[in-house]
Amino acid sequence: AAVRRYTFVLQNSSHTRLCTNKTMLTINGQFPGPTIYARKGDLVIVDVINRAGQNITIHWHGVKMSRYPWSDGPEFVTQCPISPGTRDFDTLWWHAHSEWSRASVYDALIILPERNQPYPFPKPHAEVPILLGEWWNSDVQEVMEEFLANRGDPNVFDDFLINGQPGDLYSCSRQDTFRLTVEFGRTYLIRMVNAVMNNIMFFRIANHNITIIGSDATYTKQFSSDYITISPGQTIDFLLEANQPPSHYYMDSRAYASTGNFDNTTTTRILQYSRNYTIPSSPPLPTFPEFNDTSASVNYTTRLRSLANKKYPIDVPLNFTDILFFTLSINVRPCPLNAPSSVNNVTMVLPRTDILQAYYRNISGVYENDFPDNPPFHLITRKDGTAVNILDYNATMELVFQGTNTVAGVDHPMHLHGYSFYVVGFGLGNFGRVRDPPQYNLVDPPLMETIAVPVNGWTSIRFQANNPGVWFMHCHFERHVSWGMGMVFIVRNGRGPTTRMLPPPPDMPRC
Ligand code: C2O
Ligand code: CU
Repeated sequence: AAVRRYTFVLQNSSHTRLCTNKTMLTINGQFPGPTIYARKGDLVIVDVINRAGQNITIHWHGVKMSRYPWSDGPEFVTQCPISPGTRDFDTLWWHAHSEWSRASVYDALIILPERNQPYPFPKPHAEVPILLGEWWNSDVQEVMEEFLANRGDPNVFDDFLINGQPGDLYSCSRQDTFRLTVEFGRTYLIRMVNAVMNNIMFFRIANHNITIIGSDATYTKQFSSDYITISPGQTIDFLLEANQPPSHYYMDSRAYASTGNFDNTTTTRILQYSRNYTIPSSPPLPTFPEFNDTSASVNYTTRLRSLANKKYPIDVPLNFTDILFFTLSINVRPCPLNAPSSVNNVTMVLPRTDILQAYYRNISGVYENDFPDNPPFHLITRKDGTAVNILDYNATMELVFQGTNTVAGVDHPMHLHGYSFYVVGFGLGNFGRVRDPPQYNLVDPPLMETIAVPVNGWTSIRFQANNPGVWFMHCHFERHVSWGMGMVFIVRNGRGPTTRMLPPPPDMPRC
């Protein structure tokens, strides 16, 4: 195992897309980027230096930070130990976790298997990270402030990007369009991250099927599909076989279930074979499920299954000590705080001192221990608060998320820090409050870090609370989390010395 050291200098730098030049927050002047590479078991240290005159935190999305919540996202990250864990292969990502700064501060975090550890599929010819993101002609901080002040849908971004590049549908974006060059007969491993702020995406390549082999940094049973659905926060790994007549093909992404009034829902990029052929003036375009096709989105998720074999076993809890319900609501506006989202009818308000320090140092008055259990499925009264739910070390949890939108129906990609969880069931309508409903999958459920709860439907997850600390759980749509769709778990220490939270680093910035 090696130590890999990265220096991230947060700075403002200027970039041009769609003929618009703007100054924005970046790491080392790169947009997006830089990409972090490591091998399983390596220690990754990232020194973050803030030269931007704006607060920043970086979150290592999907990295468990075992017993070490200190650099999961607090201001000014100085160290980032990546614990080896049980996985062999990770496509994860990192992103800023302070207001909407992740719009331009993100990239992939790729953990390769240990040396001489093969993949459970033939070795690909090459590996290509694909990051879905977006470009905003306006200043994102201003957009956010306007959005929160107006209680409305945000000013929209101007184009979806792939690896920081716009599609070719815009007058000044043609030469910028991302092109993936492939050789006929070869297979490519694509590591895709959805870093988009507010949209679940469909992705599809014209005339090509792809083979999904992993999601959220865990191998899945392989399956072939002509499209994928990917939520903000999720990663999907798939094999692309260059097996079509050499030519140019479009590979596009399009928003699923987008709200708001914008028309830039499809973005183009080109898959091109290397070889001599006549370049078509209009390459074939993929066709997409309808933008509101919930069953296309849900059907894709149904196909995600863990390998669950001898070499890659699963440890889904067959029993649980506690079941918790979480209602996810977009509430009737207007309401105080301009923040009409809630979990269990509580709109999350961020405190001034971070909850982790308050918990560790016994500072009172920062949060309340009264996060409601077992809420009614329909909104009664909503309140603002910083309420936490305290879990015992090693408690075996089942969480049921219930979409209860009272205004606009939309899916909610829920993300839990500090853990991976098994997605054991989901469905449309209201959860029946039956123990282990027949549609539960306890045989080969996928292990995820983010899962989209379908519109007006429910999703159940299970995990064991074996990572002591303070962990945020929230919708990965920026507009919903700024509206208060989040909550916090405190997981108590265990008894033994190796089951307790580690102390903070000496240079931990105080609030
Ligand atoms: Cu990817 Cu709380 O974040
Ligand atoms: Cu949401």
